[in-house]
Amino acid sequence: MSKVLVTCGTGYIGSHTVVELQQEGHEVIVVDNLFNSDIEVLNGIEKITGIRPTFENIDCTDYVGMDRMFERHKNIDAIIHFAAYKAVGESVEKPLLYYRNNILSLVNLLQLMPVHKIKHLVFSSSCTVYGQPDILPVTENSPFKPALSPYGNTKQICEEIIRDTIHSNSFYHSIVLRYFNPIGAHPSAEIGELPNGVPNNLLPFITQTAIGIRKQLLVYGNDYNTPDGTCIRDYIDVVDLAKAHVSALNRMLNHQQKNNLEVFNLGTGRGLSVLEIIKMFEKVNNVKVPYKIVGRREGDIEKVWADPSYANKELGWKAQRPLEETLRSAWEWEKKLAERSKQTA
Ligand code: UD1
Repeated sequence: MSKVLVTCGTGYIGSHTVVELQQEGHEVIVVDNLFNSDIEVLNGIEKITGIRPTFENIDCTDYVGMDRMFERHKNIDAIIHFAAYKAVGESVEKPLLYYRNNILSLVNLLQLMPVHKIKHLVFSSSCTVYGQPDILPVTENSPFKPALSPYGNTKQICEEIIRDTIHSNSFYHSIVLRYFNPIGAHPSAEIGELPNGVPNNLLPFITQTAIGIRKQLLVYGNDYNTPDGTCIRDYIDVVDLAKAHVSALNRMLNHQQKNNLEVFNLGTGRGLSVLEIIKMFEKVNNVKVPYKIVGRREGDIEKVWADPSYANKELGWKAQRPLEETLRSAWEWEKKLAERSKQTA
């Protein structure tokens, strides 16, 4: 059993990863500033696993606070670093907020790791680093394209910071995971995505429209060079994604890395259009999602999907949950949220 620090462990992907880590017998410490998440998530985690993770309310940009936290929790084996702002549009309006938060958090961790003798870092990156790729599917060797938003730029810069740090000091070991589009919720419906305010991402907007919180979904553009004209993405189940973190962690801790820095694409290998997702969601959940086609959203990429074969082979990991089940879980979670808000009203 190892001791793992999870930054933003009450966030969407973080909380699902905490569950998988605990279920595999790892001890978890969650660090979060609760800026974009809810402390209640810890109850959800505890309901699923029977274990409440140790919680520290700290901002990763606070170097002294993080240093003290590492003093309180000795012998941490690895860090899984999720903490970052992720709203593409907001990052265009408030670039410094994004650069400060996303980059400083990582730099603090990298500086503190040798001080506290922590060698291993799993970093949460994104397919956004590829921009609009020339060749699909995207492999880990596909080139970075100029970032279309400050958010995307922070992910590219963070990957470069990790690369340079490892190059300078062989103490560090890292696995960078490039996520495609995470969706869905835990099958227990105890945890899921909790968007703050109006959702930016497709799935929470679909579920909120289906339940009546939003009048209609706006589909951003149907004039793309794709079969139905809407954008294509690789939607990956959040529990499958969470499990990949456990595989990455075990690979590092069991000294199976081929290099001190490894990068993996985490996707299904299947691209689906916005309209296909809406139709499938309506069918599997037997609900209507009113939608309207509007103009393109600035910064959107036409199509992107992963070649996950390297992760399949090296991590021994594969996306497994059928998309229908994932879409059902997203709907179950939305209904659970509605029930909860009725109870508290
Ligand atoms: C973006 C980022 C990704 C990041 C993710 C997390 C880019 C290129 N991608 O993904 O790196 O991890 O956000 O926030 O920077 N859509 C609608 N109507 C809506 C919402 C979305 O039609 O109301 C469409 C979008 O145009 C897109 C698809 O749905 O084609 C998926 O959008 P979204 O869920 O926002 O994710 P990405 O933009 O792909």
